[in-house]
Amino acid sequence: MKTWEQLQSEALERHKDNIGLGMSDSKTKGAKVLGGLINKWLKKGSTCLDVGCGLLPKPYYMEVGCNVVWYGIDPFNMEVKRDFFFKKAMAEDIPYPDEVFDGVCFATTLNHVKYLDKSISEVNRVLQKGGYLFVWTSVGDEKLIQAWKDKGGLWNYLHAWGFSEKDILSLFIFEKIDIIDVRPNEKIYIFKK
Ligand SMILES: C[S@@+](CC[C@H](N)C(=O)[O-])C[C@H]1O[C@@H](n2cnc3c(N)ncnc32)[C@H](O)[C@@H]1O
Repeated sequence: MKTWEQLQSEALERHKDNIGLGMSDSKTKGAKVLGGLINKWLKKGSTCLDVGCGLLPKPYYMEVGCNVVWYGIDPFNMEVKRDFFFKKAMAEDIPYPDEVFDGVCFATTLNHVKYLDKSISEVNRVLQKGGYLFVWTSVGDEKLIQAWKDKGGLWNYLHAWGFSEKDILSLFIFEKIDIIDVRPNEKIYIFKK
């Protein structure tokens, strides 16, 4: 059986023409709003884990959300200098103890994970009681999403999952994480544990 590092190396080779695609720089619509919301909901000095933080030294939402102390994980198999605490890891197996973070965010990443249920339970495990979860993701039309679910397989060649708004709002119900705010234009969903 291949390790995830081997699978990542193979994926890196397959997608080498797309490297850097979809990373949140200052021109990315939504990144500024996400950073502002993180500053709004998390107290100054809180810790926030960015699950799937990408390849930038500091994504733009971290620059804007500068009141918090940032941690990031990403499985991407490339050496990059980062201006925050970083570990190479996946959402499905977060290398931190239980209930340590005041906030967790998925910034255009939740639809990339391989095992959604495991990723959700891992996020719940590392998030403190009373902590905030920020999900910024693309959201599709319910009928299209249902047709994809009936067919099975990956959503598309870059994303494992497709979500309707209804899916997003119900993803964390079983973890007792409640929706508290939605930014419909940017597709940012804020939850509280
Ligand atoms: C569209 S990029 C977003 C990167 C960053 N959040 C940003 O906005 O600049 C999606 C990221 O998800 C990461 N990713 C893919 N599968 C993952 C997983 N299972 N767990 C955590 N991150 C994952 C990819 O390596 C990639 O860096």
